[in-house]
Amino acid sequence: MFKDRLSKALEIVKVAGKIAQERQQSIGLIEDKTGPMDVVTDIDRGTQDLILKTLEKDFPEDITWGEESGYPLSDFSSTWVLDPIDGTTNYIHGLPLYSISLAYYYQGVPVIGVIDSPSFGETFYSERGSGAYLNENPIHLSEVKDLRRSLLSTGFPHEQNRCDIIIPVYHHLLCRSQALRAIGSAALGIAYVACGRFEAYFQLGVSFYDVAAGVCMLEEVGGKVQQINEKPWGTSSRSIVALNPLIGQQLFDELNRFQIPEPVYS
Ligand code: IPD
Ligand code: CA
Ligand code: CA
Ligand code: CA
Repeated sequence: MFKDRLSKALEIVKVAGKIAQERQQSIGLIEDKTGPMDVVTDIDRGTQDLILKTLEKDFPEDITWGEESGYPLSDFSSTWVLDPIDGTTNYIHGLPLYSISLAYYYQGVPVIGVIDSPSFGETFYSERGSGAYLNENPIHLSEVKDLRRSLLSTGFPHEQNRCDIIIPVYHHLLCRSQALRAIGSAALGIAYVACGRFEAYFQLGVSFYDVAAGVCMLEEVGGKVQQINEKPWGTSSRSIVALNPLIGQQLFDELNRFQIPEPVYS
């Protein structure tokens, strides 16, 4: 049903990914948004511009929006949601772990997800009802059934009060899983759950545009997405637990030992 959109999305995201990769050693402008922990580069803006303009030309009836648009998004009826570089901090430090993450929402549901990881030559994608793929090969969740053998992944919140809440949870889970990683790109973290590299990704203080493409992909392979308080995940959620259902109950049993409030948008 969304084949044309998926193939255009794949084409333009890969082009933008190549440009981002080539420019990583020669970033022009790096500016603080809310502070030094939250920066934007000319490459974030250029990538967003290229991708959204291309989509607007091909699908003029669709809404297009990106992290750097500078205004809120409320209409998810037929809407492209872009995170032009997910992992900007990694990107400016020359690390290969960053991605370009594009989702298309139809009637409030993410039905296309594309996550391109140019440094590794990996493009993850999904269309609702048609499976999820990595470079054209179908991907699957892992078969790990035991939290103790699970590789968990997270992203650190920027706000001090959220760190105070989540750090004891990290300590608790470190002692009950195989290991815990923070790779610096929420989108890639979820794609890695979808292809079986991680068993779960969880984070406090994440936004819909960080994870929408990953949500589509993960649900397509039978994964589950919830808020950290176990309520359903949606576009206004500020936390996420994206997981392999085989370890879902075990992980939530541990998370539920803590009172973790769902952050609110400020
Ligand atoms: C960030 C990354 C990071 C996550 C942060 C996000 P950005 O996105 O996904 O892994 O921990 O919460 O803001 O700003 O690099 O697009
Ligand atoms: Ca950002
Ligand atoms: Ca992001
Ligand atoms: Ca970003």
